[in-house]
Amino acid sequence: MNTVTAGESIRLELDDIQSGALHERPSPYVGSYLLLRIDDRAAGRELVRRLHAIVDSGRPSSDPAHDAWITVAFTYQGLKALGVPQDSLDSFAPEFQQGMAARAAELGDVGESSADNWEKPFGTPDVHVALAALSPDAARLQAVVERARRAREELPGIALLWQQDCYQLPTGRTSFGFKDGIGQPAIEGSGVPPSNLKEKPLKAGEIILGYPDETGELPPMPTPEVLGRNGTYVVVRKLHTRVAAYRQYLRAKAATREEQALLGAKMVGRWQSGAPLALSPEQDDPELGADPHRNNDFLYADDPRGFKCPAGAHARRANPRDSLYHDGSVNVRLHRMIRRGTSYGPMLPEGVLEDDGVDRGIIFVFAGAHLKRQFEFVKTQWLNDGIFIGAPEEKDPLVGPHDGSGTFTVPTKPIRHRLKGLPPFVVTRGGEYCFAPGLRALRWLAELET
Ligand code: HEM
Repeated sequence: MNTVTAGESIRLELDDIQSGALHERPSPYVGSYLLLRIDDRAAGRELVRRLHAIVDSGRPSSDPAHDAWITVAFTYQGLKALGVPQDSLDSFAPEFQQGMAARAAELGDVGESSADNWEKPFGTPDVHVALAALSPDAARLQAVVERARRAREELPGIALLWQQDCYQLPTGRTSFGFKDGIGQPAIEGSGVPPSNLKEKPLKAGEIILGYPDETGELPPMPTPEVLGRNGTYVVVRKLHTRVAAYRQYLRAKAATREEQALLGAKMVGRWQSGAPLALSPEQDDPELGADPHRNNDFLYADDPRGFKCPAGAHARRANPRDSLYHDGSVNVRLHRMIRRGTSYGPMLPEGVLEDDGVDRGIIFVFAGAHLKRQFEFVKTQWLNDGIFIGAPEEKDPLVGPHDGSGTFTVPTKPIRHRLKGLPPFVVTRGGEYCFAPGLRALRWLAELET
């Protein structure tokens, strides 16, 4: 077994962990997400056997640009369709067993975002298998997608229900215009160097099951051990972005292009280039934004009132770093996550303020060992609610479930600036809770005899 030792004594079984969890996605990238249904148990197991042969594992490459890979994950319904015994199904996290649609209202998916309005097959019991293929270019993507297609070939009991292609926009940024995927925790034993030297790497058990987490305990792991170990929970959400509404809002609230850029940055916590407000509060610094050694290397403790980066900015809410340590009641390290989001849909051309009706946005992908205290906690407590930042009426200005009446406070001297009338800029089009097993677990699933 190929293992790596890093930091303390952790030895991650990298050869058994699917590459997608620990592997940074390439940049630029192209990719495809597929959702499949298993109509026939034997065909399902044959599919898993074939996928096992093409799913990558191993050490994260030091040069992700040379790689293309497939990740496979299953919903609760998918594991059931494969014939996983009930006592094992019962050992998965309760949120996973319920599925995302059952938890949608709690997650803030209401109104247009409510599960009733989701794009099919999201939220239906038909979604069994989720595949993601990611690659640095179209030619290599074609090759991995072809491998996945062959895995399904002549398996009449497997139905392809949905496919979403994704690609990095020519700007290298997401549809709202911001660079994304910068703030990621370092993971002990992963071999991926930390991007924030001011933070200790997270215990591996925060992301991969079977290892101690930040509490010093092993996270609850599905049984039998062969199924749970080296697996990780995965959250997939298709998030439509209302780019024209966002641009109109900035235009209405800020007089000049510079002021619009500043307001946009205050909402996100970073400038469009990725440069953090914490390091460059007055103006964008594209060189800083592009520098992976510097663009995530910061904390917030020197900015408790949020004059540089508002406490309500998206990135500061999603990872408040050291800004909550003062009362000792919150351990931010228990609420971190790996994000593997990608963009879908074409850009709304620069300067256009009218909605063109085209679907564009983000396929948000989370990987972590704890659905509830990581993804769900951050979404419900930190993004959808303002109590923890001392602004109970406020939600995340960019991704919060707004209804047109939301506010966003930007601390400025001499008096704070309060923006009103925030409309929803993000609409949930669907999502699923999945489990990405380790490679041994895939073999175990393929060989089930129930
Ligand atoms: C369409 C929806 C979303 C958009 C457009 C968006 C955009 C962004 C951007 C531009 C950043 C700053 C760049 C970076 O640090 O990587 C960011 C950071 C982040 N976002 Fe989001 N995001 C969205 C939804 C979410 C959701 C639903 C969550 C979690 C439940 C989330 C969690 C995070 C986290 C953890 C960070 C990193 C913060 C840090 O470490 O500093 N985001 N997002």
